[in-house]
Amino acid sequence: MIYLDNGATSYPKPPEVIESFMDVMMNYCANPGRAGHFMAARTSQEIFKTRLVLARLFNIDTPGQIVFTKNCTEGLNMAFKGILREGEHVVTTSMEHNSVVRPLKALEKKDITTTIVPCSKTGELSVEAVRKAIRPNTRIIAVTAASNVTGTKMPLEEIGRLALRLGILMMVDGAQGAGHMEIDVKKHRIDILAVPGHKGLMGPQGTGLLYVREGIPVRPLLEGGTGSRSNQLDPELTFPESYEAGTVNAPGIIALGEAARVLNKIGVGAIENHERKLTEKLQEGIKDIAGVTLYGPKNYKKKTAVVAMNIDDMDCEKVASLLNDKYGIAVRAGFHCSGLAHKTMGTERTGCVRMCPGFYTSEKEINDTIKAIKDIALSEK
Ligand code: ALA
Repeated sequence: MIYLDNGATSYPKPPEVIESFMDVMMNYCANPGRAGHFMAARTSQEIFKTRLVLARLFNIDTPGQIVFTKNCTEGLNMAFKGILREGEHVVTTSMEHNSVVRPLKALEKKDITTTIVPCSKTGELSVEAVRKAIRPNTRIIAVTAASNVTGTKMPLEEIGRLALRLGILMMVDGAQGAGHMEIDVKKHRIDILAVPGHKGLMGPQGTGLLYVREGIPVRPLLEGGTGSRSNQLDPELTFPESYEAGTVNAPGIIALGEAARVLNKIGVGAIENHERKLTEKLQEGIKDIAGVTLYGPKNYKKKTAVVAMNIDDMDCEKVASLLNDKYGIAVRAGFHCSGLAHKTMGTERTGCVRMCPGFYTSEKEINDTIKAIKDIALSEK
């Protein structure tokens, strides 16, 4: 199989990650923070090390402000629902995933309003348009690092600067950016960052993190056992344990730490270069095929490793099925949980085929994909 669905989850995973997962499961996986015996202590220690290595990856000075979540959606929900208060306002963009726009829609019931700033057809965001959308009660500017449909990168540094100047919180959905492009909470002035563990970070599914800058009050999504102050019913909230109620996904988190170590070793810049080369090759290889329409920016520096396309008026699901059944190529078609992004691109009725090369994708696989798309487009004539 040629796997080009890395936007949904990365595959394969680095061998070190798989070995680490197995090592925890086989040798010491106890309940961290709940007991003082050797196995529990080792599990706690490895989880703590994971916070450190992830902090290094995103240039975070306060690893204790990293909360482990089960995915990016949980982190985004925790931040919106835990930070925003009645009467507050959020500015976001028309390229966001449903994991941003649906919680915000649900918060309308609590008198929390949202302005969605329209992006261009290629998904690009004007910082000036963001500035104009800001109101006196704006508490958060929430942007994706990169669109999951077109790969379009958002101007994080400029938005971070604007947010800082106006005293507004800058929140980043790192679902498609983390591991694929630089995300630096200091350089980009990010106050809140949600990231999945299983996409660009190449860790296991069921893992993710939420970073919240120290001093920002957050109400937890869940209450329960945290391993500390067990005799209190309403303990003082402390990062990170108050936000990780219940037994955490220890093997997943520890394997995610190994993934972050691999990433720190390779360097996100090197991964980005490799993926950009493949994206360029794929896009250049199919752009002149009769019937192919491409979406998103033409300039590869403005996007992550995503190629979104349609072939004539062929149903995108049919193209994806043909790629899978006849050529053994895995892609995702449809609306990608991002209805607003498709409206922005003008594909709200058709959806599109999305191909996402990853760190383990080879040039040969891209050449084979180009041939398959040529074949499908020709067979439609
Ligand atoms: N959010 C994931 C995607 O874009 C699942 O495919």
